[in-house]
Amino acid sequence: MSSSENSRLSVALVDVAPGRLDEFRRLAAMFEHVLQQKYYGRADTIQDESNPSRFYAVRRWTDASSAVRCHADPDVQAITAQIYQLARVTHIVNGVRREDVRSASSDRRAGLTGDRRAGFERRLQRQGDGVKGSERRRGGDRRQTSRRARDRQALDLVAAARSAREYAVATFSRFKVGAALETANGVVVTGCNVENATYGLTICAERVAMFKALSEGHRDFRRIAIVADTGEPTPPCGACRQILWEFGGDLEIQLANLETSTKTLQLRDLLPMPFDARLL
Ligand code: THU
Repeated sequence: MSSSENSRLSVALVDVAPGRLDEFRRLAAMFEHVLQQKYYGRADTIQDESNPSRFYAVRRWTDASSAVRCHADPDVQAITAQIYQLARVTHIVNGVRREDVRSASSDRRAGLTGDRRAGFERRLQRQGDGVKGSERRRGGDRRQTSRRARDRQALDLVAAARSAREYAVATFSRFKVGAALETANGVVVTGCNVENATYGLTICAERVAMFKALSEGHRDFRRIAIVADTGEPTPPCGACRQILWEFGGDLEIQLANLETSTKTLQLRDLLPMPFDARLL
């Protein structure tokens, strides 16, 4: 297989919980159907001959951006959220980001050991190893990714945030915000702001994305794109900075409006003296 074909391939190991095989097969068929129908690519779910509860989910993406658009698609997210309820999914090869295999394998370890600690606690442990989690992500993984590939991925993430913004429930402020959070193994989880009649229970797009991601089992994050229809880019509010810091660490933040992708920042610069679990 040529390297460009290889770079458009994703493979995940899926271990289905006992008694849930039929449900899984139904969801896998739905997933395959949506992928094909929306031209994201093709998916095959291959059962392991010697272990009937194990499957190999192979996806061949149509092009470089289809994996990212697919992961950001609410229809796809609804199916994968259900799959995560009944199976353990271990990403082996990650789509257009062949160079991210290292981070995929660390995510795989986290999956296998059933690590339920918040990102913050795990980062504390890594600091004990002498390397900060965020530094490892930024230095280690990034060095293997070309600037052009990073720019393209950033644009895809902004596109996902723009699409998510369309779903905003901004009944009272009319101020729609979209966010797209990228996990360490390249999955994109989106969010939009949701307002309600009490006003005070409003939740911002960034926290929706983070809570969705945590509730689907993701624990390691790389960056987040935030989109609003403003001339100057809209930075995350204080509450979101806190939540993003505690669960995502020093995330890269991509701020954009509807036309241009503008600023790239580090969360550390937006939250210079953070309160976190180290102080408890
Ligand atoms: N909002 C966000 O979703 N994210 C931000 O970073 C700033 C504010 C939302 C909350 C509320 O629904 C609306 O924007 C106006 O504050």
